[in-house]
Amino acid sequence: MNKKIIIANLKMHGSSSFYEELFAQVKSTQQHLAASDVEIVMCIPYPYLFLAEKFFAHSGISWGSQNVAKDLAGPFTGEVSVTMLTDFASQYAIIGHSERSTAYCESDLNIAEKFKRLKEHNVRPILCVGETFIEREAGMEKKVVQAQLETILSNGSEIFADSVIAYEPIWAIGSDMAASPEQAQNMCSFIRDFIHSEGKHSGHNDQKKIPLKVVYGGSVNEKNTLQLLSLDEVDGALIGRCSLSADKFIQICNLAHQI
Ligand code: PGA
Repeated sequence: MNKKIIIANLKMHGSSSFYEELFAQVKSTQQHLAASDVEIVMCIPYPYLFLAEKFFAHSGISWGSQNVAKDLAGPFTGEVSVTMLTDFASQYAIIGHSERSTAYCESDLNIAEKFKRLKEHNVRPILCVGETFIEREAGMEKKVVQAQLETILSNGSEIFADSVIAYEPIWAIGSDMAASPEQAQNMCSFIRDFIHSEGKHSGHNDQKKIPLKVVYGGSVNEKNTLQLLSLDEVDGALIGRCSLSADKFIQICNLAHQI
């Protein structure tokens, strides 16, 4: 069975003491899962990457950031490059989260450049895609997600190998209104099929084998985890608020383990 992946998105929360406590708890209770059928990834603010490396090195638990610069170095005040992430052995980086694309006007092209940069340095992108409530009401959700994927696909479908696509409907983030299992299943299936079919069109053989994961994010909690993660098209979850509580996050990881 496909290994499930549970990704924590800690956003701009916490402090040194908060992370020391969270990491210690996740490590002590989750090491047996990390070694088995659940992959755990902690995506945290940049200043705590060193701490994640200290706690999680050789534990089977992965860590990463919530953004990356598209450039490698230069006069870009406030930016953090991929080589700075790898200095702290980060294995993953979230890109394209709607909280960034709306607040900081990130374009699809910009996100595609970040995706490419991460791949060049063997950091796995966790690409967020998803529609607004108005777009879903208008029946445009697949069109919107397709457009978000297309800019990256212009680099060839194999660029998606070993990456994670997180379907995060914008209306479900921070809202207590998770997508229904049917909505999550349909969109995750659409994302996978679209990437594979684009690969075939561009002449790549056997695209079904592109090893990518498609996960769901948006108001995932300990009550809806089993239902969402039991879906065969859903390879895991991206967890916001519930990752702030070690108890809830660990409970979600344990539920993923039961599937
Ligand atoms: P949420 O956030 O779980 O708090 O809805 C998810 C996310 O923004 O990735």
